[in-house]
Amino acid sequence: MSNAAESKPRRAVPVEIRDLSKQYGGVSVLKDISLSVEPGEVFVIMGPSGAGKSVLLRHLAGLEKPDAGEALIGARDAGVAETHERVRTALVFQAGALFNSMSVFDNLAFYPREHRLADKATIREKVYRTLEILNLEGSADKHPSELSGGMRKRVAIARALIMEPQLLLYDEPTSELDPISAANIAEVIGTLKEEFDVTSIVVSHDRDLALSIGDRVALLEGGSLITIDTPEGLKASTDPRVQDFLSPKIDTANPRFRDNG
Ligand SMILES: Nc1ncnc2c1ncn2[C@@H]1O[C@H](COP(=O)(O)OP(=O)(O)O)[C@@H](O)[C@H]1O
Ligand SMILES: [Mg+2]
Repeated sequence: MSNAAESKPRRAVPVEIRDLSKQYGGVSVLKDISLSVEPGEVFVIMGPSGAGKSVLLRHLAGLEKPDAGEALIGARDAGVAETHERVRTALVFQAGALFNSMSVFDNLAFYPREHRLADKATIREKVYRTLEILNLEGSADKHPSELSGGMRKRVAIARALIMEPQLLLYDEPTSELDPISAANIAEVIGTLKEEFDVTSIVVSHDRDLALSIGDRVALLEGGSLITIDTPEGLKASTDPRVQDFLSPKIDTANPRFRDNG
């Protein structure tokens, strides 16, 4: 913890999902989900395509309302659920959603400028510091279209971090990336908790990512939570559903090995 002084209260928030269910047009997409995430934890929700991962993440972002149950962000100990507006939540979308007409620098500076969070020099310093943490120092003046897919993902993460979020939500951060870029993103997500006091929830169908970055990993299938465990615990699990998901067989006809969002 370099910049989180001991005297400061924790910024990272706990998350609690209680008995959450969601249907679309009578089809049950999330079934009675309950889980707790500790402040500062990297918590991965993994599972095959169509499991309900993105829908669950949208509930945490406050973009969906549950049919039953609740998603509580922050202040769990006080027994009071903070509203989404009061906790700074940043979402790293699957496609990155960068402003393509702006330089990388301007993409990062956009939010702090818009919200007048600091003076020009401070914003500039912060942008460069954040780019440095994400190994993007040389890319400040480039446009997103001039960067590789992996670099664009890192810019998207940098742009989320500059908002000083208390909760960082990632949807498939390694999708569309080659294995080396994916490993690089995994490393970046892992190192962020050393630099920022933030809780991270990562949704992914990528087993390698889940097992390498997660403090704990939840397996979601068909809208139901199968298990929550540490990566070591999952690897040692005798549950055939866990073994089946983790086994490295490649079967492109099986929808669980396809990523379509
Ligand atoms: N807005 C929506 N309206 C209707 N069905 C939806 C909606 N969003 C997601 N779904 C359905 O919910 C299921 C889970 O979707 P999703 O959370 O995107 O899966 P994934 O685990 O791949 O992220 C899928 O069957 C999907 O078609
Ligand atoms: Mg998804």
